[in-house]
Amino acid sequence: MNVMEAITSRCSVRRFRPDAVPDEAVRRLIEAARRAPSAGNIQPWHFYVVKDEAKRGQLARAALGQRFVAEAPLCLVVCAEPAASARVYRERGAQLYCLQDTAAAVQNILLAALELGLGTCWVGAFDEEQVRRVLGIPQERRAVALIPVGYPAAETGRPTSRKEVEEICTWV
Ligand SMILES: Cc1cc2nc3c(=O)[nH]c(=O)nc-3n(C[C@H](O)[C@H](O)[C@H](O)COP(=O)(O)O)c2cc1C
Repeated sequence: MNVMEAITSRCSVRRFRPDAVPDEAVRRLIEAARRAPSAGNIQPWHFYVVKDEAKRGQLARAALGQRFVAEAPLCLVVCAEPAASARVYRERGAQLYCLQDTAAAVQNILLAALELGLGTCWVGAFDEEQVRRVLGIPQERRAVALIPVGYPAAETGRPTSRKEVEEICTWV
């Protein structure tokens, strides 16, 4: 699958088969994440790989009851490390770069998952403090995305619509 095919065919998956995701596949996803660009190559991120069923249930509750978060056999929790970026880039590093860096890592995970036949959904609606408590995330890290991962249920997945290029683009 080439990059453009992956980008255009990806869509959020919210229904999963219960089959486990092999650890080798999880490693591929993290490998893709760590290849993302980051400001000054600081790599201000940390990834929690959550397989434990009880913890996934707690994460789903922290994600405002979005049940598919628990239904996927795996949930990746992507964290930013604002202080790491701030050491070099001060306020801009803490407020902006570390979030942009982790967003790039998230997108790499979504695309790499596609190649492995895995479905994902970028979940941003959650209670950050609750997620912190569930996983024991230290204060210097900030959970920025949950990514439930699993093999898609047969009937899921179709690319969603987008604004037209003319609407979103100014040529200067
Ligand atoms: C920052 C961010 C937060 C999101 N949070 C949620 C979420 O909490 N729950 C959910 O079901 N989808 C969430 N999504 C997925 C979007 O709804 C989805 O990407 C969008 O509707 C486009 O659909 P597609 O991913 O199928 O292309 C989020 C996406 C982003 C980028």
